[in-house]
Amino acid sequence: MAAIQAQAAKLIHGRTHLTMAMTTSKTIYRIGYQPLPSGIFVTPYPYAYQLKMNEAETTDYCLHELKRLLKSQTAPEETACIVMEPVLGEGGYVVPPVEFVQELRALCDQYGILLVADEVQSGIGRTGVWFAMEHFGVRPDVLITAKGLASGMPLSALVTRKDLMAKWTTGSHGGTYGGNVVACAAAVATLRVIKEERLLDNVNTRSKQLLAGLQQLQQEFSVIGDVRGKGLMVATEFTTAQRGEPDTATSKAVVKAAFEHGLMLLTCGTYDNVIRWIPPLIVSESEMAEALKIFAAALDTMSH
Ligand SMILES: Cc1ncc(COP(=O)(O)O)c(C=O)c1O
Repeated sequence: MAAIQAQAAKLIHGRTHLTMAMTTSKTIYRIGYQPLPSGIFVTPYPYAYQLKMNEAETTDYCLHELKRLLKSQTAPEETACIVMEPVLGEGGYVVPPVEFVQELRALCDQYGILLVADEVQSGIGRTGVWFAMEHFGVRPDVLITAKGLASGMPLSALVTRKDLMAKWTTGSHGGTYGGNVVACAAAVATLRVIKEERLLDNVNTRSKQLLAGLQQLQQEFSVIGDVRGKGLMVATEFTTAQRGEPDTATSKAVVKAAFEHGLMLLTCGTYDNVIRWIPPLIVSESEMAEALKIFAAALDTMSH
């Protein structure tokens, strides 16, 4: 990921500074590697639930912090790009306010900064549209995607306009496995299946089922502080009932109990207190119902 970010920066000659809102989800990704490359600055992600703010306050606060960063640490004229996950992955499955993303686009346009959408996790139908940026009506300058692209075969893509692509010097960007034909064939087949089998419709229908099921469980179990998400990128955030603080012990115990009954779940978030729901795009109604049943039983064991 870091290499792609550095190469994206090269697209604008003379601008090597990066402003990013990613890879800071947990110290485990940084411990043992410090000091990290310079030229990368981090600004708060618009995470309303964690900030204990409403959407408008979250937008104001995060834009304020971003603008302050561009005044205090990295001048806009030497900032190459701003990298953002349009739905935050490792950081906790967070959907930002629409207004924030639109204002971010306007800010990038004002200063000639490239907006890079990290859709490694959110891309290729995961959120019910081809790319999560569509939810905000925003077009990034560069889009990075990977995980769902080739159904598990190793492939990632950096997508951008022709005028930006033309700035690569031929041969300056490559790798031993780049453009691997088997992985590329898997990607072509994946994209065809998503389109021909109308999988985005399935994602949206199953999303409604999942969100409704989780919201119902939230009424029953006070450890679930928040249910949120788009498409089949959905979060259940565990917090203590009294103070709304991250409840890592419960989220981990629920994952373990669910696993023992045949449901594989994964945590995310800085405190590992968010259970993420990322079923395959082909998940059926009965499979989803079964998953919700196992999850409910796991929650039930916690409350006894
Ligand atoms: C949003 C996002 N960006 C980047 C990465 C890193 O991708 P890679 O392992 O292909 O470098 C991940 C991996 O989980 C991710 O979720």
